[in-house]
Parts: sequence; structure tokens; C-alpha cells
Amino acid sequence: MNVLLIGSGGREHALAWALAKSPRLSRLFVAPGNPGTAALATNVALDISDHRALIDFCRNAGIDLVVVGPEAPLVAGIVDALADARIRAFGPSKAAAALEGSKGFAKDFCREFAIPTAAYARFSGEASAKAHLQAKGAPIVVKADGLAAGKGVIVAASTEEAEAAVTSLFASGLGQAGIVIEEFLEGEEASFFALCDGERALAFGSAQDHKRVGEGDTGPNTGGMGAYSPAPVVTQAVDERIMAEIIVPTLAGMARRGTPYRGVLYAGLMLTTAGPKLIEYNVRFGDPECQVLMLRLEDDLLALLGACCDSMLPAGPIRFDQRAALTVVMAAKNYPAEPETGTEIRRLDEAAKLDDVTIFQAGTKRQGERLLAAGGRVLGVSALGGSVAEAKARAYAAVDLIDWPGGFCRRDIGWRAIEREKR
Ligand code: AMP
Ligand code: GLY
Repeated sequence: MNVLLIGSGGREHALAWALAKSPRLSRLFVAPGNPGTAALATNVALDISDHRALIDFCRNAGIDLVVVGPEAPLVAGIVDALADARIRAFGPSKAAAALEGSKGFAKDFCREFAIPTAAYARFSGEASAKAHLQAKGAPIVVKADGLAAGKGVIVAASTEEAEAAVTSLFASGLGQAGIVIEEFLEGEEASFFALCDGERALAFGSAQDHKRVGEGDTGPNTGGMGAYSPAPVVTQAVDERIMAEIIVPTLAGMARRGTPYRGVLYAGLMLTTAGPKLIEYNVRFGDPECQVLMLRLEDDLLALLGACCDSMLPAGPIRFDQRAALTVVMAAKNYPAEPETGTEIRRLDEAAKLDDVTIFQAGTKRQGERLLAAGGRVLGVSALGGSVAEAKARAYAAVDLIDWPGGFCRRDIGWRAIEREKR
């Protein structure tokens, strides 16, 4: 099979790495890809928002399957455009991608199908939103309705902070599509992934990430500074509840609405004393969560993704390495504000030779023989181990071999799981 993978992050390097292991793969193209994917596939410069050009490329290259990494093209309807041209694509349709594309839609959907989530109300104006805040008090959570690249959620400790969030969402335009105000949920967060074929879902494992830039989970939010899988807090019993109470009803609800969900469904969850509750849906793999999932996956990724498109998911379960995987993200200095790019990264090959270590690239670029930082999150230094603590030790051993004065990482990735392992 010839495959076109769309995206350029650590997630896509990890997907390319897993796809490249499939005996079914003939040629792999990545658009636009990065220097990491270039070692496994052919990178192609394609404007993927130009659906006509994308379809022409697929026809000329004899593409049998398109795999879409990030959410923006899914929400823009890339899978529908490809389907109209009879090109198979892994990922939800535009209508199904609204689960991530609109928080208001997702909340109304949860209410309609009794999927456990935080209580909420939707607002299109500032005055009514503020009146609601006064009535509810803090802590409380304020969210922009549409995609906001991680800038649309404010967890407010006081009513004043929440009011300021409402003012700024409307003033900045992020609140243009409306806002959602919801109950603050207490508990431990975890991510859960399921592969879906429109009718059936198969569990694809759990993970936890570290969103804050600083050690001890402090400082501004980022795309994710590290992750591990499985999440020890997601025991077999919790796993079964998530499938039965959240994933299966989501698939059933989307099918009932006439917009069946195909692709990977990523549920961001709060594990509360009353059980797992949905914080948000994502319609794609998480990054860096995808990196740890791909390290552990033993089944053929290409076969599984194709089966999702064809409503042919096997009976399951999907096979995973039972060991733990952990990714440490190395970012360019001054990420997430204004990362300093252009700095040189050395000794990557040496670090990648360590046992059970794989290094995924994200914001990198080649300049002749040199590898340079070209984005905020630059490397995903990933390792397998008998425990999260062992995977962590291996990942940091690799980090310490990499010669990159222009980068930094957190030193405490996995702390929550490691504390749990010590009990
Ligand atoms: P989201 O972009 O919806 O994932 O929200 C970003 C982060 O805000 C989540 O990972 C949580 O840490 C936090 N958050 C979102 N909604 C809630 C909520 N209802 N209660 C507590 N924390 C929340
Ligand atoms: N790491 C969080 C995300 O991909 O949304």
C-alpha cells in the first residue's frame, strides 16, 4: 500500500516510524514531514489546505490511504474532500470532527447521550456570561468554543479571574463562536485513546502528559512537555468504565446522529471520586502521547488504520508491549513564549543507540549536515522500561548524551506515576 501521512510533528514522526514497520507498506509519503520522517519516507511539500492539489497528488502517486495527524485539517473537512474523490483517509469527517472543533457541540452531545462530563452553560454575550459567573462562584472553568491552539481554556480560582477571562476571550476574538462556562472537576487527569470504525471501538491505551512548561507542573501551558503510557491510574476496572460510559456511547451517539465516527478518539478525562468524566474530546492522536503509544504498539498500525476506514476493526484486543514507555520533550529555549530557533543539535545518533531508546523529531530542520532547531517542541526523547521509573532513567540517559545548549527539558516527567509505583 502507498500511504500519505499529513503533519510535521513528533506525532507524525512516531506514526511514520510505526507505519514503516508494516509489511503491507510499499511507499510512505509525508506532507510536509520533518527531518525525522525524511529518514523513513519521502517528504513532500504540499499545501494540504488546497484539496484539489492534494487529490491530484494522491492520484499521481497512487495513494491507497491518507493518514491525517493534526486536528485543523480534519475540522476543515479534509477527509470529506478525499472521500468525494474516492480516496481512503483515516480520520473523522468534518461533521464528526466537531467533537473537537466545537466545545459547545461536544457539551451538547454529552448531554444528549448522557456521557459523564462537567456541568456547563453556553454564552454568546459577555453580560450574560458574567452574570452566570456571579451566580456560580469559583473555582470555575471558562472556555472558547472553537479551536484555540491551547489558548482557549482558563481554569479560574476566583470570580475576578473568571470575569477577566470572559472579557479577554471576547476582546481577542477567541470568543467569537461563543464560550462555555463549566464546573471545575477535581481528580487526576488521564488521556484515553480508542480506534473507531464508525460502529465499533477498540481501546488503544492510556497515557498522561505534562502540560505545564515547568517542573512540578508549574508555569504556562504548552502542547505537552512529556508523557508516559500506560497511565497507572487507569487500572483495568477504570479502563472498562471509560469504554462503557464514554467511548461506546460516543460512537453510538455519533452513529445515531448520522455522523459515524471513524478515526482515533482521544478522550481527555478527569478521574473523579464519582468515576471518569470527560474534559474534552480530541479527534486525533495526542502529541507527545502518540510517541509513547507507538513505542508500545505491537500490532500492525497500517492494518489497524485501514480497518477503521473500512468498518472492519478486528475483534481485538489490540496488542501492546506490557512495558512502560516515556517521552521527554526537549524544547527550544524560551518555549512556549518565543522559542529561539536556529541552534544546532549534536550527538543525536549516539543518544538514539541506547537500548530501548527512540528519538522522534518535531521542530527540526536540516542545513547541509547540520540539524537545527526550527520550532518550539523540537525532540521527543522516548524509551521503554520495565516500569515508568526505568523508562524515565533510560530517556534521561539519552537526553544527557544530546549536545544542544539551545534546548531544555523538564527533569521530572513521570513523577505522578513513579510516586504511584513506589506505593
Ligand atoms: P482542554 O483544552 O479542554 O483540555 O483544557 C485544558 C486543561 O484545563 C485540561 O487539561 C484541564 O487540566 C483543565 N480543565 C479543563 N476543563 C476542566 C474542568 N471542567 N475542571 C477542571 N479542570 C479543567
Ligand atoms: N498533548 C496534548 C494534546 O496533544 O492535545
